[in-house]
Formats: sequence, C-alpha cells, structure tokens
Amino acid sequence: MKILMVGSEIFPLIKTGGLADVMGALPAALTAIGLKVTTLIPGYPAVLAALPSSDVVHRYANLFAGDATLRAGRAEGLDLLVLDAPHLFARPGNPYLDPVGKDWHDNAQRFAALARVAADLGLGLVPSLTPDIVHAHDWQTGLVPVYLRYANKPAPPVVMTVHNLAYQGQFPAYLLGALGLPSDSFSLAGVEHYGAIGFLKAGLQHADAITTVSPSYAAEIATPEGGMGLDGLFRARADRVFGILNGLDTDIWDPATDNALAAHFDANRLALRAANKSMLARATGLAERPDALLLGLISRFTWQKGIDLVLAAIDTIISVNGQLVVLGTGEAALESALRDASAAYPGSVKAIIGFDEGLAHLIQGGADALLVPSRFEPCGLTQLAAQRYGAVPIVTRIGGLADTVIDANDAALSAHVATGIQFQPASEEGLRRALLRSARLFQDKPGWQSMQRNAMQLDVSWANPARHYAALYRSLRSA
Ligand code: ADP
Ligand code: GLC
Repeated sequence: MKILMVGSEIFPLIKTGGLADVMGALPAALTAIGLKVTTLIPGYPAVLAALPSSDVVHRYANLFAGDATLRAGRAEGLDLLVLDAPHLFARPGNPYLDPVGKDWHDNAQRFAALARVAADLGLGLVPSLTPDIVHAHDWQTGLVPVYLRYANKPAPPVVMTVHNLAYQGQFPAYLLGALGLPSDSFSLAGVEHYGAIGFLKAGLQHADAITTVSPSYAAEIATPEGGMGLDGLFRARADRVFGILNGLDTDIWDPATDNALAAHFDANRLALRAANKSMLARATGLAERPDALLLGLISRFTWQKGIDLVLAAIDTIISVNGQLVVLGTGEAALESALRDASAAYPGSVKAIIGFDEGLAHLIQGGADALLVPSRFEPCGLTQLAAQRYGAVPIVTRIGGLADTVIDANDAALSAHVATGIQFQPASEEGLRRALLRSARLFQDKPGWQSMQRNAMQLDVSWANPARHYAALYRSLRSA
C-alpha cells in the first residue's frame, strides 16, 4: 500500500513543534510494517539544502503565479517529494512567519499550492507515485480533500489528522477564485467557516477519515469547551473520527545512546542520571544541588502551554527546595517574564530563550521531573520523552497527557504502576498542589525511583500507533 504523507514541517529538516516530530518518525514506523511512504513537503531553504540530489518528477509552469519543480529525493532517511517553488517557499526561518513575526501575507496561496500538488499526485500526476491513500496533516493541508472532491475524478481516500485545533487556517472569502475553488464550495457543507475560508474546516468536512493524536482529545474536540468552533462538525462526523496516540522516535530519544547526555543510562542504571543533572546545572548556570527537586520545562510559550501558571507558582517551587529550568520560545511577554524570574532567583530558576535540540535532550536526561501544565494538549511529546528518560512528568489531566501518564494516586502507587503526577484543573492552585505533592513523593527516594522505572518501561514507540494507522488505511481502501 502506497501512502502519500503531506505536511508543512518535518524533523530534522524544519521544525516548530511536535508536528515535525510526527512527520519525521511515522513514515519509518509504517515502512517497518510493509507500507511504502513518501512525504510531500514545501521546499524551504533548509529542506532544499538537506537534499543531496534529487530527480525532477514534474514541472509546473504556473503554480499560484510562479513556476515550480517537484523533486524526489532522500534526506535523513526520509523519502521526500519536495515542492521547490521559490516564489512561495524560498524564505528562511520560521515556515509560517515573516521576519517581524507576522503570518506571511500569502500563506493561503503557499499552503494551497502544497495541497494542490498533493491532490494532483492523488489524481495520477506522476503515475509511478500515485498513492493508495493520502494522509494530510493540519490546516496547511486542509484543501487536499477539497481539490480531490472538486476534480470529480476517481481519487484515493484522504486521512486528515488534527494536531492542534488552535490553528485553523482562516482566510478571507475573496480568495476563493484565487485558490481555484468553485463558488459553490463556499457553503456550510464546503469550505465556508464563520464567513471565511477555513482550510482546516474544509479538510475535516471532506476527508474520508479524521484522526487526532489521542483518544481523550478526540472526545474533547466534540464538546463546546474543546471544539474551538468545530465541535458540531466533529459530532456530525463522529463515526469518522479516530484518536490515535502519537509515538516517539525511540532511536533519537534513547537515554542509552543519546550524545547530548554526560552519562548514558537505562532503567537499571538510574544512579547514572546524577551526572546529567550536574551537567544540566553547569550548562545552564543553575546552582549544583543534587538533593533539590530539579524541574524542567520544554515548550512553545503560548496560552495553551500554561507557562503563566508556572510563573505564578515559582514561589511554591522555591518553598519546596526546588529548581526550575525552562527552555522555549514564543510570546514576548512570557519570554520577558521568564527572564525576570531567572534574575529574581539566581541559581534556582533559569530560562533559556531559544530552540536547542541538544539542551532539550539534556533536560530530559538530567531533570528530576518535567512540567507540562497545559490548558489543552492534543497529545504532547515532551511527556513521552520525559517518561523514556526517567524525568517524572507533572501534567494536567487533559488530552494526550491524560492518556499517556499514570498518576501516582494511592491505587497506582500500591500497584506499582505510577509513572507521573497528574492534576486538574489547569490553574495556579492546581499546579501549586501538584508541586507540593511532587515534592512529598520526591522525598521517598525508592518510591520516586520506582515511578521512574515504570515510566521508562512504557512502550512509547511508534510501533503501536503505526499499526492503528495501517488498519485505518486498509479499512478506507476496502470501504
Ligand atoms: P507542540 O507540538 O504543541 O509544540 P509537543 O509536545 O507535541 O508540543 O512537541 C514539542 C516538540 O518540540 C518536542 O519535540 C519538544 O522537545 C520540542 N521543543 C519545543 N520547544 C523546544 C525548544 N525551545 N528547543 C528544543 N526543542 C523544543
Ligand atoms: C500539536 C499539539 C501537540 C501534539 C503535536 C504532534 O502541536 O499541540 O499536543 O503532540 O501537535 O501531534
């Protein structure tokens, strides 16, 4: 079975968040169980630079007002189709934002072009590459099933995966013609969404199956609280919506071989983590305090991630002899509040503002616990890595966090299955209570180590999720 993946970022070539991790790892897991996967991505400078050589498989004379070349090649073990369209993608840096941090003015055309090419491939543009299934990810690819539908030709089924409903790709209605959409598509049953063209909404409306990245999030998005305006659609299409948990690339995230660590370790050699805790303190300028509860946080700084809750609860962290290291980038107000907190608590709080893959690994391998106080979380990958690295996750009980962490309540502790600490609601008070509970658990060293070992023994790989996707693809082909 041939699968065409299409998405707007892919690890390790271009990444702003977990979407890239999924795009980078799921294909290999599917390949391992016999599927043939090719991934279509935009030819950003970083992607073209990583492509050592490529075959031109198609040339467009006019793709959204410029010429474009579709290139096939392999980079970093990935089978790629790269849409080399300089007028749309020859822009370094963040794939969505211009140099002043605003959405590129032509994002509608840029990602419509990506979707157009995926649809063309689905319709047989390059016969040897015609897929049996197209698997499209997030709003950037929402028009894929729309273009296929309006082509009125036999087309492969489309799976649309929602990684984050907070980003829906809303564009003005006057772009309808420019995007090559017929006027009758602008309806409730088509691409119209709250008076605009909704890329994600359009994709969800026309996809043959919808998946999201955890079972709990699949349930939450069908409610007014979690649906972000799309809950009615999810309820109407409930028989087509599936929650499939993300996995982790367990080759890249392996504490027994990770080059970013001072000491390699596994569940039977937990004592070796101490060297990573020291290295983390030295690398970030925290005081070296082996007995302190060292909390890590690796995140985009947005409302979703509850960074403001952590800022509000810093005094509780200090009061329990804790330390905090934060790695991330995002909203300017949160970046500056974190800088201020670092200055106010030297040696105890350190914020590193930036994107640093190596430091993210060192935090996972050196911190005692990882904070993920999200207000909503479709899946979340940092708590998966944390569990694999023996950093006990402290998470809100929502979305994928609820599905991947086993709370250290009395029942789980007595059955020796706890892997972390869950709390609710996502509030300052909830977080404070969770911090106090974590600090008490941390005092009981054998108990804490048993949580670390339980967590490290979980299967967080892509093996299971890949089987679920393969079964879904098969069901669509035989439908
Ligand atoms: P989201 O996709 O909502 O940002 P996830 O938890 O699914 O959240 O994925 C985030 C990914 O990005 C993880 O791989 C995490 O390690 C990584 N990450 C986030 N911020 C940074 C950063 N500042 N430096 C390095 N890696 C980061
Ligand atoms: C999104 C979500 C995150 C998820 C990631 C990959 O960005 O915020 O929860 O893990 O996509 O699916």
